[in-house]
Amino acid sequence: MKIVVAGKGGVGKTTVSGTISRAFARAGHKVLALDADTNPMLGVSLGVGPEQTDLLVAVRQGLETGETEHERSTEGFVERFGIDAPDGVRLVVASRIERANPGCSCCGVSPESLMNELESEGMIIVGDLEAGIGTVMRLQEGQADVILVVAQPTAKSLNVARRAVELADDRGGRVIVIANRVRDAEDLEVIREAVGECDMVVVPDEPAIAIADRDGRAAIDVDSDAPGVRVLVDLAERLAGMAVPA
Ligand SMILES: Nc1ncnc2c1ncn2[C@@H]1O[C@H](COP(=O)(O)OP(=O)(O)OP(=O)(O)O)[C@@H](O)[C@H]1O
Ligand SMILES: [Mg+2]
Repeated sequence: MKIVVAGKGGVGKTTVSGTISRAFARAGHKVLALDADTNPMLGVSLGVGPEQTDLLVAVRQGLETGETEHERSTEGFVERFGIDAPDGVRLVVASRIERANPGCSCCGVSPESLMNELESEGMIIVGDLEAGIGTVMRLQEGQADVILVVAQPTAKSLNVARRAVELADDRGGRVIVIANRVRDAEDLEVIREAVGECDMVVVPDEPAIAIADRDGRAAIDVDSDAPGVRVLVDLAERLAGMAVPA
C-alpha cells in the first residue's frame, strides 16, 4: 500500500508521516518511509535523532558534490540512501537533486515517480512530500492508494488543502483530511467548510508533539497514548486493515 502525505508548509506532514510509519511497523507491517522533502526531517519524527538524520541527509547531498556515488537500482537506492529507524521502519531520503542525471534512478526521478517505481507488495510505503500543491499535481493516477491531506485551521493552509483535496479526488486514491492542531469546535468548523464532506481525522493541538519536536524525538516515543498521537496511531491501524500484512 502506498500512502502520501501532502499539505502546506508547516502543517504537520512530517509529524503525521513519522507517527503513522512507526504505528504501521508496531502493527506488524514492513514499512518504507520516504522523505521527499527538500529539507528532509522525517528521521527526527521517526525517532532516529537529529544527528543520524543529518548524516543521512549529508549522504544524499553528496550526490550534488560528487562525494556519493550514483545508484542505478531501486534496491541499491533504498540501501544507500536509507537507515533503519525504530520498530524496523526503513527510512529513505529521496529529496530532489539540483544537478540530477536524467534517467538515473537515484537522482533523476521525482519522488512522485519513485513512489511509482518502488515495489509495495507486502509493505507499506509512506511518502512525506514537499510542501504545497505541486506534489499532488504531479501524482499520476494510481501512484498512491491513500492521499493524506494535512490541514490546520488557518486560511492559507486551508486554501492549499481545498485544492489538494480536489486534485487528490481526481487521482483516484482514497483521500483523508488530517485536521491538525484543532483547539475547538470553531477550528473544526472552518476546516469542514473548506474541504467539504470527506473522510476526516481530527488531531488536537498536542503538547506531546511539541515536546517531541523540542527534544528531537518521535512523538510516539514521548507518549504513544497522548490524545494527538493516539488519533494518528488509530488512523494507522485503520489503514493497516486495508493492507496485506508482511
Ligand atoms: N498536533 C500538533 N500539536 C502540536 N504541535 C504540532 C502538531 N502538529 C505539528 N506540530 C508542530 O508543528 C511544527 C511543524 O510540524 P511538521 O514539521 O510536522 O510540519 P511539516 O508540514 O512537515 O513542515 P514542512 O512543510 O516545513 O516540512 C512542528 O514544530 C511540530 O511539532
Ligand atoms: Mg516536513
